[in-house]
Amino acid sequence: MEVMIQDTAETASRTAAALAAEEIRDHPDTVLGLATGSTPLGLYREWIRLHSDEGLDFGRVTSFNLDEYVGLPADHPCSYRYFMQEQLFNHINIRPDRVHIPNGTAGDLAAECAAYEQAIRDAGGIDVQVLGIGSDGHIGFNEPGGSLASRTRREILTAQTRRDNARFFDNPEDVPLYSLTMGIGTILESRRILLLAFGEHKADILAKAVEGPVTASVPASVLQMHPHVTVFVDEPGAASLARVDHYKWVMRHSLE
Ligand code: F6R
Repeated sequence: MEVMIQDTAETASRTAAALAAEEIRDHPDTVLGLATGSTPLGLYREWIRLHSDEGLDFGRVTSFNLDEYVGLPADHPCSYRYFMQEQLFNHINIRPDRVHIPNGTAGDLAAECAAYEQAIRDAGGIDVQVLGIGSDGHIGFNEPGGSLASRTRREILTAQTRRDNARFFDNPEDVPLYSLTMGIGTILESRRILLLAFGEHKADILAKAVEGPVTASVPASVLQMHPHVTVFVDEPGAASLARVDHYKWVMRHSLE
C-alpha cells in the first residue's frame, strides 16, 4: 500500500481526483468504481471543476457504484442514486446509460446482484475504484465478520453503520436495515484502488486497516492483499498510523 498523507482533506481529495483524471485522459473509456458518503465529496467537487475548467471528458467513462440501500427508490433524497446525481453526475458529461448503481427496489434482489456482477465483467472490470472506510472498518457495505471473498449481494447493516448514517435521514429509524453492496471479492478485482480517509474519527480504524492484521473483523484490512492501493489521508486521519515517517519518506522520494 502506498500511503499519501496530506495536510488537509481538500488537498488529499484534489490529489486523488488528479490521479483518476490522469487515468481518464490516458484511457477515455476508463471504468470507475464510485462511493457515496461524506468522504468522496471533495474528490467529486474537483472532478466537476476539472470538467468545467479544463474539459475533463467523462463522455466515454463507465461507472459502477459500490452500494445502495434496499427499499429506497432512485428519487428518494437519501438513496445513493439521488446522492450521485446531485453530487456528481448532474455536473459532468457522463452518459446515463453508462452509470450503474444497484437497484435496491428490484423485485428479485439476488438476480439484481448477479446482473450487477455480470455488468461489471461485461464492462471489462473496474479500472479505478474509489473507497471510503466505515468507522467499523467496512468498505462498500461489507460489514465486519463477512466473507473476504464475497460478491455483490444483499447485506445487513450493523447498528454502528446505521447510527453513523442516521445523519443523512430525518429519523434514525428510517435508515434501511439492508443494502445491496459489491462484495469484497468484487472490489479486490479492481485494477487500482484509491482509499480515502479523512478526520480524526477515522484515525484508529484506518491504522487497523493499513497496519493491523488482515482480518474479516476489519474488512478494509483485506486491501493489504491488493497489489495497487493508494491511501489518501489527511493529517488528523493519519494520527494513529505507526509508520508516518516512513510514508512521508516514501512520498518525498517518489516525487523526486
Ligand atoms: C458508501 C460506502 C461506505 C462509505 C463509508 C464511509 O458508498 O460504500 O463504505 O464509504 O461508510 O462513509 P463516510 O464517507 O460518510 O464517512
